[in-house]
Amino acid sequence: MQSIVILISGSGSNMQAIIRAAKAENWAKHYNACITSVISNRPGATGLAWAQSQGIATQIVDHKTFTERQEFDMTLREAIDAHKPSLVVLAGFMRILGADFVAHYAGRMLNIHPSLLPAFTGLHTHQRAIDAGCRFAGATVHRVTPVLDEGEILAQAVVPVLIGDNESTLAARVLTQEHLIYPAAIRALLK
Ligand code: GRF
Repeated sequence: MQSIVILISGSGSNMQAIIRAAKAENWAKHYNACITSVISNRPGATGLAWAQSQGIATQIVDHKTFTERQEFDMTLREAIDAHKPSLVVLAGFMRILGADFVAHYAGRMLNIHPSLLPAFTGLHTHQRAIDAGCRFAGATVHRVTPVLDEGEILAQAVVPVLIGDNESTLAARVLTQEHLIYPAAIRALLK
């Protein structure tokens, strides 16, 4: 069985989209794949309760309880590796991970970023796209490398930036597309 571990920090709407797709499309039967754990660095992440309600094991590795970044990375790595994952999926996971950590999962760690990479790496992507006068915005699924928001692009979705858009309206439009491309990119890899 190919194990998939999902890392979240908040509401985990992408995580929910992936788990819904896995169930609806029966990834267990068709790809011999299963989401084995959802791990959060924030105890208050609302996505945890939803994952539990779906019968998926959850775990918290609270970054605030560590003084050293390396210690956090190592504990998180142990929690993930307990599930022997083929894929580690960052879904709104809001911690920057160390180079050793990233190297350990080279080629099998994915992220979704709310911009059309390579444009607008980092934070506040929607406001920056609006401020730059972009007519289109979007989201990118990519493999994770030690460089923030870099790595092979696996999927992208484009949405228009509409007159009168603000950060929230644009983010909401992009998010609906994220929920489609993230499960699709994972499915393509499992195949
Ligand atoms: C998404 O916009 C994702 O692209 C970014 O963080 C947000 C997380 O949303 N990395 P959610 O937690 O999946 O709802």
